[in-house]
Amino acid sequence: MNVLVTGGAGFIGRHLVDMLEKEYLVVNVDKLTYAGDPEATASQKNFIKGDILDQKKMEEIIQHYHIDTIVHAAAESHVDRSIVHPLVFTDTNVKGTQVLLEAAKNCEVKTFVQVSTDEVYGSLGQKGLFYEDSPISPNSPYAASKASGDLITLAYGRTYGMKVMITRCSNNYGPYQFPEKLIPRLIGKALYDEHLPIYGDGLNIRDWLHVEDHCRAIKLVMEEGIDGEVYNIGCQSEKTNLEIAKSILMSLDKPQSLISYVSDRLGHDRRYAINADKIQRELGWQPLIDMESGLRSTIEWYKENKDWWEKKWYEGRRREAVK
Ligand code: NAD
Ligand code: TYD
Repeated sequence: MNVLVTGGAGFIGRHLVDMLEKEYLVVNVDKLTYAGDPEATASQKNFIKGDILDQKKMEEIIQHYHIDTIVHAAAESHVDRSIVHPLVFTDTNVKGTQVLLEAAKNCEVKTFVQVSTDEVYGSLGQKGLFYEDSPISPNSPYAASKASGDLITLAYGRTYGMKVMITRCSNNYGPYQFPEKLIPRLIGKALYDEHLPIYGDGLNIRDWLHVEDHCRAIKLVMEEGIDGEVYNIGCQSEKTNLEIAKSILMSLDKPQSLISYVSDRLGHDRRYAINADKIQRELGWQPLIDMESGLRSTIEWYKENKDWWEKKWYEGRRREAVK
């Protein structure tokens, strides 16, 4: 396979490119927004700085590298930012996805994998799980833009006969996650003895999966997934945000008094929980990293790589300011 990965300078994309490069020709196209890390691309075999909204450029790349498979991971990915700047989410996650699908259709790309999220299903109460056929009911502008991208992807499959698959994963954690997201943000704060901001009552629940387990699942779907199918990905590792904060403080031997309750996020989804039976049953995927050891090694990584996330945080902010 000759694979085009979009967003391969981001958190999940960079792990994915590393994994796929061991077996395939991989081209990473990334716009290098505040979330993209130029250093991630230094060791990648084929990196092209580009915007998925640039259809001509996407077609040139697909043709030049004889791309037969696209794994589309580029996105605006942070819910809080989508509440403040929703339009860029529509540009990238909705229109960008469609432009990429157009390029794929025109160049007769065989397989298109849309990397999506469990957030498209909306919010659960105390009970229940998200299944692949659960109603699409997004609440944040981020989730709505990803849901739109998913629907357009399925429409291209049905209308133009393209082979399309969608993965919907729960919250990821691991090395190189931008420190705007919960786990790296709390680790960073704790390392500096600063208050850990917990939205609302801290009892919102997320279902956590290590980024490497996610990437192995995406790879499997790309290789063996069935045309037109959606695959949920998760490992039933539900935690309240408060539990995450407490574990981080305990691991770093910091006082629990650093926890600070702050105003709640607008439209804050209460609970996400994934049923991933389908990908386990049909493709034989299994998560390999349990939350306890995964979180421990992630905390260790952030402790050892302060330079990376501090630089990333300030550079990201600077790039935003310049824009
Ligand atoms: P990220 O924000 O860390 O990285 C996104 C990457 O996309 C960045 O490198 C950025 O430069 C690039 N990008 C943004 N706009 C672009 C454009 N117009 N053209 C080209 N490149 C562009 O995101 P992430 O956390 O790695 O998420 C990757 C994908 O996985 C997203 O589609 C996201 O919706 C999905 N996802 C993420 C999680 C999670 O917990 N992080 C969970 C499930 C699904
Ligand atoms: P986040 O990492 O932004 O992922 P998502 O919103 O996509 O699930 O947030 C995870 C959870 O943590 C969510 O319930 C919001 C909460 N949260 C905080 O309590 N404090 C924070 O500083 C952040 C960034 C998130």
